[in-house]
Amino acid sequence: MFDGREGHAVQKAMDLLVRYGEALGAERLVDTNNVCGAVTAPSPMKLNLVKKLGLEQGLSAGFSEMNLDTEEIVEVPRAKVYTCQLIQQFGPDTAALHDGSRELLDLQKESDAFFGSRGVHIMATCTPYQVGNVPVKGEHCAWMESSAVVYCNSVLGARTNTEGLESTGAASLTGKIPYWGFHLSENRFGTHLVEIEVPVDDMMDWGLLGYYVGEIVQDQIPVLHGKLSQPELMKLKHFGAAASSSGGVEMYHIPGVTPEAPALDASFGGRRPAETLTYGEKERRIAYENLNASAKDRKVDFIMLGCPHDSIEQVWQAARQLEGKRLHSGTELWIHTPRALRELADRSGYTKMIEDAGGHILSDSCPAISRMMPRGTRVVATDSAKQAHYLPAITGVQTWFGSLKECIEAGLTGQWSGGLD
Ligand code: F3S
Repeated sequence: MFDGREGHAVQKAMDLLVRYGEALGAERLVDTNNVCGAVTAPSPMKLNLVKKLGLEQGLSAGFSEMNLDTEEIVEVPRAKVYTCQLIQQFGPDTAALHDGSRELLDLQKESDAFFGSRGVHIMATCTPYQVGNVPVKGEHCAWMESSAVVYCNSVLGARTNTEGLESTGAASLTGKIPYWGFHLSENRFGTHLVEIEVPVDDMMDWGLLGYYVGEIVQDQIPVLHGKLSQPELMKLKHFGAAASSSGGVEMYHIPGVTPEAPALDASFGGRRPAETLTYGEKERRIAYENLNASAKDRKVDFIMLGCPHDSIEQVWQAARQLEGKRLHSGTELWIHTPRALRELADRSGYTKMIEDAGGHILSDSCPAISRMMPRGTRVVATDSAKQAHYLPAITGVQTWFGSLKECIEAGLTGQWSGGLD
């Protein structure tokens, strides 16, 4: 591949991986048959290329520059291994809801078709594991998206570092990725013991715990121990997203849940933890106050749910609470879920329940990634620690963080009345 025997694009991809691997000090490459990257999302730069060169050449030029790190335009071949598109931009079906450029929304659709024909599965979500990409324990992956990476390592026991646009682009054409970091068993043991002294039970509890732990351990590996309820997918998805936002957590252990950690001892691989932290009432309050630091005005104009993208159960929970009610005039509600689950929500009648109340279900993107929100948004309420972390910084809006119930209540009254017990 490095010599160009499999074509020009593959040669560029392998050249990139070799340079990347050398910079990381990786001993070698490892085979992967599971890539989650980002090739389809349109941008003003790609739009200009398409206007100048035509659709096929323009998208090829964008891929060469953004995903293969070359100014030379290479023809985009089919993916060599299983490759999925993560979150992208919103599509034309959302045009009435925000001020996003119509040209970019249309280009998203054309880009889907271009890369879909090359074997990129357009899952268009930050939660590929919710829509069929569920790697098994020990499987080497090349994934982008911090909330998906931490889920892959910690819940599924598969192995990935947080890759980028370029390395996932190159991995999809070669089936290789540098063998370093979380691909190696010795780098996957816990470093910090977190003794949990307050009950961690509902979604909000898991978000607060993740946000606090991430802030303290940064890119180390926390091991959670103590008053945890049995978590399920949506709570672990929420916890990991929070921990990877306030810090750079790419892996955690919950003994008995994380596949490599049947018990506490196994989490540390026989070593002593570098540090032991306590998570009690005081720490929970610190996390809550940090998450709500940007919020002052109680009049709320946008409720954002579904970060990471909602599971079908979360969509149902929201629909149930909205049933027979009507959102306050001037307050918008967007619920984000993968398009494949949107189909399920339509079929199950949840979409109708949400739309009858005045809300919307959106797929493919989110406000933090797309920078798109309802027109005139100033104050947001969300049940997502990750979105509460990023939205004020990225868009300058005030953001309240709380439970789903509090967010729905704010949608119905137009006022934030949430708070910590
Ligand atoms: Fe997904 Fe956007 Fe949140 S990418 S994790 S919904 S910030």
